[in-house]
Amino acid sequence: MSLKDSIIKERLPKHIAIIMDGNGRWAKQHGNARIFGHKSAMKAVREVCEGCAELGVDYLTLYAFSTENWNRPKMEVMGLMDLLVSAINTETDTLIKNNIRLNAIGRLTDLPEKVRTNLMDAIGRTKDNTGLTLTLALSYSSKVELVDAVRKIARDVESGTIAADSIDDSVVSRNLYTGGMPDPDLLIRTSGEYRISNFMLWQLAYSELYFTPTFWPDFDKEELYKAIVDYQHRERRFGLTSEQIG
Ligand code: IPE
Ligand code: IPE
Ligand code: MG
Repeated sequence: MSLKDSIIKERLPKHIAIIMDGNGRWAKQHGNARIFGHKSAMKAVREVCEGCAELGVDYLTLYAFSTENWNRPKMEVMGLMDLLVSAINTETDTLIKNNIRLNAIGRLTDLPEKVRTNLMDAIGRTKDNTGLTLTLALSYSSKVELVDAVRKIARDVESGTIAADSIDDSVVSRNLYTGGMPDPDLLIRTSGEYRISNFMLWQLAYSELYFTPTFWPDFDKEELYKAIVDYQHRERRFGLTSEQIG
C-alpha cells in the first residue's frame, strides 16, 4: 500500500501549517548562493499545495517571511521580495485552476508596494474559490499579531463595544490575523530545527508538532503524506485521559 493510500480520509488535519526552513543550507550543500535555495523552494510549495488540495485539506498556512527576516542581508531580502512577485504572477492561474483561495497574514503594510499590489490582486482573483485556503505568512510575527489584537480589543473596550469582563479566548482568537480560521491541527517544520520562531504562538496551543531533517527545497508530496500518517497515529488528548477519548 502506498503512503497516500494509508491516509485515513475521515481523520485528515483540517489545517496544516508549515515553517518552511532550510533553503540557505540546501543551497550551500549544492554549492550555490542562498537565493538559489529560495528559488528552488517553489517546487516544494507547489507540491504541498497540490498535495493538500488533492487530499481535501481545508487550510494550508505557509510561513514564508518573518518580521525578523527583514534583518537579513539587503540582497537576500530584495531577492526574496522579487521572488514573491514573480511567484504570485506565475502561480495565480494555477491557483484558480485548482480552486485554491489565496490569503495572507502579517504586517502586510511592511511589504514593498509591488509585492502588496500583486498579492492583493491575486487574493482578489481567487476570493470566490471554494477549495483549499492557502495562507501566506508574510512579515509575520506572532508577538506582533498578539500586540495588534490587544490594541484592537482595547479600542473596542474604550468605545464601549465590548466589556473588559467579556473578553475570553474566542474574542482574542477572533482579533488575530487568523480570525475565522481553525487553529492548525498539524505543524510541520523542516530542516531539523526544533523551535517555533515566533510563529502562531496562540494558535499552536494544541497542535501536533512534526519535525523533519529534510531541507524545505527537498520536501515533496511523499514527505507531506509521511507527516500526515504520523499525525494520524497520535492521540490528541486535549488534557483528558486516554480512556476518556476512547
Ligand atoms: C527558510 O530558509 C526561508 C526563509 C526564512 C525566508 P532559510 O533561508 O532560513 O534557510 P536556512 O535556515 O538558512 O538554511
Ligand atoms: C523561520 O525561519 C521563518 C520562516 C520560515 C519564514 P528562520 O530561518 O527565520 O528561523 P530561525 O532564525 O532559524 O529561528
Ligand atoms: Mg532558517
